[in-house]
Amino acid sequence: MKSINITSELEVYDNLEELPQDVFDLMQKAFDARDNAYAPYSQFNVGAAILLENAKVVTGSNQENASYPSGLCAERTAFFYAGAKYPGVRMKKVAISAKSLKHAVAAPVSPCGACRQVMAEYEVNQEENIELYFMGETGKVLKVKSVKDLLPLIFDRNIL
Ligand code: THU
Repeated sequence: MKSINITSELEVYDNLEELPQDVFDLMQKAFDARDNAYAPYSQFNVGAAILLENAKVVTGSNQENASYPSGLCAERTAFFYAGAKYPGVRMKKVAISAKSLKHAVAAPVSPCGACRQVMAEYEVNQEENIELYFMGETGKVLKVKSVKDLLPLIFDRNIL
């Protein structure tokens, strides 16, 4: 028996202005995408913007449904859209922002478990890390250099 220690690294930006220019611009696209959310049930709007290696940006927002489980998060909407429109094109960076229509969201909102699993599989397949930056409506922005920092043991053939 051996024990394995798994660590995650998070970087914290105190505000948007601290971000590198390309990520700042990507986050603006996540804000725009957030405004396209269809979230009449939760009134919690999420936007995601993915920068691809071909310099295109693909965005997504959460899309809810009266049959609640049929709805989809912003991250998966964006990743599946990128996979469908640009198959095989690597994803470099992702910006995510959430805004509630009911209360202020000043703390970073991190992707849900199902989205982590989906994002992780794209990362494994492309054999290159995807950087993620996520925030609320205002306030700090968290960065991870890889989806693995959010979900180390993904459901995959080779987890170690
Ligand atoms: N949501 C996302 O879009 N991304 C996440 O990572 C967490 C939750 C959406 C799903 C639902 O439409 C709303 O936020 C409230 O849970």
